[in-house]
Amino acid sequence: MAAPLKVGVIGVRGIARTHFPGWKESPHTEMVAFADINADVLKAQGEAQGVTRLYESPEELIAAPDIDIIDICTPNAYHAPLSIAALKAGKHVICEKPLAPTPADILQMIEARNASGKLLMTAQHFRFDGAAKALKAEIDGGALGDVYHARSWMLRRSGAPTSAGFVTKQHAGGGPCIDIGVHILDLTLWMMGNPKPVTVTGITQDKLSKLPGAFSNWGGPIPDFWDVEEFAAAFVRFANGATLVLEVSWLLNHPKTHGEDMQMWLYGDKGGAHWPDNVLLTTNNATKQHLDTQLQNKEGGEPHAKECMAFAEAIVSGASSPVPPEQSLDVITILEGLYRSGATGREVVL
Ligand SMILES: NC(=O)c1ccc[n+]([C@@H]2O[C@H](COP(=O)([O-])OP(=O)(O)OC[C@H]3O[C@@H](n4cnc5c(N)ncnc54)[C@H](O)[C@@H]3O)[C@@H](O)[C@H]2O)c1
Repeated sequence: MAAPLKVGVIGVRGIARTHFPGWKESPHTEMVAFADINADVLKAQGEAQGVTRLYESPEELIAAPDIDIIDICTPNAYHAPLSIAALKAGKHVICEKPLAPTPADILQMIEARNASGKLLMTAQHFRFDGAAKALKAEIDGGALGDVYHARSWMLRRSGAPTSAGFVTKQHAGGGPCIDIGVHILDLTLWMMGNPKPVTVTGITQDKLSKLPGAFSNWGGPIPDFWDVEEFAAAFVRFANGATLVLEVSWLLNHPKTHGEDMQMWLYGDKGGAHWPDNVLLTTNNATKQHLDTQLQNKEGGEPHAKECMAFAEAIVSGASSPVPPEQSLDVITILEGLYRSGATGREVVL
């Protein structure tokens, strides 16, 4: 067996911890180095994970010749520069969502990927959820026929992060659209077969976060430096005639005080489906009967770990990126169009 691919992780505080088990479990990888600009976080995670090569400069880790995979888990604003530097240094790159906050950034990342011949993957872990994979297999097998409409939302009643990395345009690039909208939008487009988006009408709101005493169960008081939306809604048209209604929020007087309401409905000419309940809804016109079928989840496992393992597997087997940046470009193009539409009050052609 070939020597394991050496993994270096950049930004090792929050979500990175869900990647570590995947790199440890994969038969193809060895997690050998960490980088973080916060020396305390770096030291603590190095000790906790038994990783001894620790870099306060991500550029130094990227320059290390023996590293094969760079895993980027920093705030959004650093995804593009770090990914591009790593691709130029000849590394494969997996990068947390959003791949980058703007379509222009992602286009540059794709250019660097093309020049490097390496793989670039967005860490959209919901694609590796067992229920989502079971539903996707049904859809790909034709269970819904032609999917002509979808409704999806990711709504939290009081679930706003409050750090600058999430609630400032400078570090995050946007609010819940960019943070959680990318999850449900990526999953929905993937289920629909990634049709090409052509127009979007959208709005954003920042009403509850501006109220005196506004707070989040996830992060405490809404900070003064918050300059992003708290809610967004959109109507998207695709080149194949399909449509999508999307709603996202961190702060909304909507059921589920803790946690979130994340759902997707898909409607095709042969059937409908709901995720995460994984129910297929069909109609038999001959017998005049409606039928609801519960899908079985065939696969367990923690999806963040599974996405890392899938990336390593793709590299070793010479397959393409499990979540290609071109698909993330469509996600961010829709969200950037949503922002533009909200600002102008008009439908935007993408
Ligand atoms: N897939 C998911 O479910 C999910 C969940 C949470 C966060 N995320 C994404 O993960 C990313 C990080 O979020 P988080 O919650 O882990 O944040 P975090 O603040 O907990 O951790 C980020 C770490 O990156 C470090 N860092 C910041 N800039 C850096 C730089 N230029 N170079 C090296 N290190 C740097 C920080 O010191 C910090 O330790 C974001 O892009 C976010 O959208 C994804």
